[in-house]
Amino acid sequence: MNVLGIETSCDETSVAVVRDGKKILSCETISSLKFHKKYGGIIPEIASRMQLETITQISSVALKEAHIKLKDIDLVSVTSGPGLLGSLLIGISFAKALSFTLNIPLLGVDHVHSHVYANFLNSGKVQLPFVALVVSGGHTSLFFIEDFDKIKILGETQDDACGEAFDKVAKILQLGYPGGPHVEKLAKEGNPKQIKFHCSGTKNPLEFSFSGIKTAVLYISRDKNLKPSEKRDIAASFQEAVIDTLIQKSFLACKLKKVNRLVVGGGVVANSRLREKFFEAAKKENLNCYFPPKELCMDNAAMVAGFGYRLFKKGFVSGLDLNVGLN
Ligand code: KG4
Ligand code: ZN
Repeated sequence: MNVLGIETSCDETSVAVVRDGKKILSCETISSLKFHKKYGGIIPEIASRMQLETITQISSVALKEAHIKLKDIDLVSVTSGPGLLGSLLIGISFAKALSFTLNIPLLGVDHVHSHVYANFLNSGKVQLPFVALVVSGGHTSLFFIEDFDKIKILGETQDDACGEAFDKVAKILQLGYPGGPHVEKLAKEGNPKQIKFHCSGTKNPLEFSFSGIKTAVLYISRDKNLKPSEKRDIAASFQEAVIDTLIQKSFLACKLKKVNRLVVGGGVVANSRLREKFFEAAKKENLNCYFPPKELCMDNAAMVAGFGYRLFKKGFVSGLDLNVGLN
């Protein structure tokens, strides 16, 4: 079964063809990031205009790369939320038009859940049930996943998302946007033990809070002409504290749910130090930790196509009245 996946929840226009929920025949992604950089964040109007301009062409390229024709597509799976309203509407409207004209089923899927599915593409395999942690620019969530249609939220951030905190810290340190890769690069040469940062506590231990640590970075950096070595130590100490919190909470979730499988996904998971520390800690705790390949951590349509396939096989399908889910 060939599934066309469409992802337009933020700055990317991504279209993929995935066979039987596994094999990526193509995945074409274009980002409008360079047009947002000077504003230090995503401007929704710029993002959706770019998506409107590029989606038809990106789809043609994805089909060509996959060596298939439109008539060979069996299902259209599209991100229906959460994300930017205008951007999501471009993807959903395009998906509806394809579904209607080709007379094939349509399915709207959750973007955050799709990040978990990135672990199941190609040869990826994890036994159910498991705990999943998604850390992206918009979300930081822990789930208990009994099956792909039985996903229970255990905790999420109460304020900033983890990637958002990386982006804001990068802004404070006058690095580029998006901040994650810049902070990671700077942190490599810094001393993570130099400053004792920590993430604020939360009422439910499986919830997250990153706004306090971001403010702590602001206070320590404000009105100062930081030396390059000080910037490096701030980046390293911030990154270390955030990763330690992610590990502590997701391992606790595994313990509470009595599973030894932890699946991680989302843009922040492209961070090498994070991957290294998770693996180290997992080894000590006898826990199996799964990460998608780096190129599938960031927003992409392959995860949307794959996840859509799994849900479709379970009987899920959307109508042409599919709407945006903004949560
Ligand atoms: O999943 P994603 O592509 O988009 C959303 O769904 O939000 O994640 C983007 C986020 C940004 O906040 C970016 O700064 C962060 O992921 N990110 C990183 C790294 N690469 C991307 N954060 C930390 N370290 C990285 N290497
Ligand atoms: Zn995402």
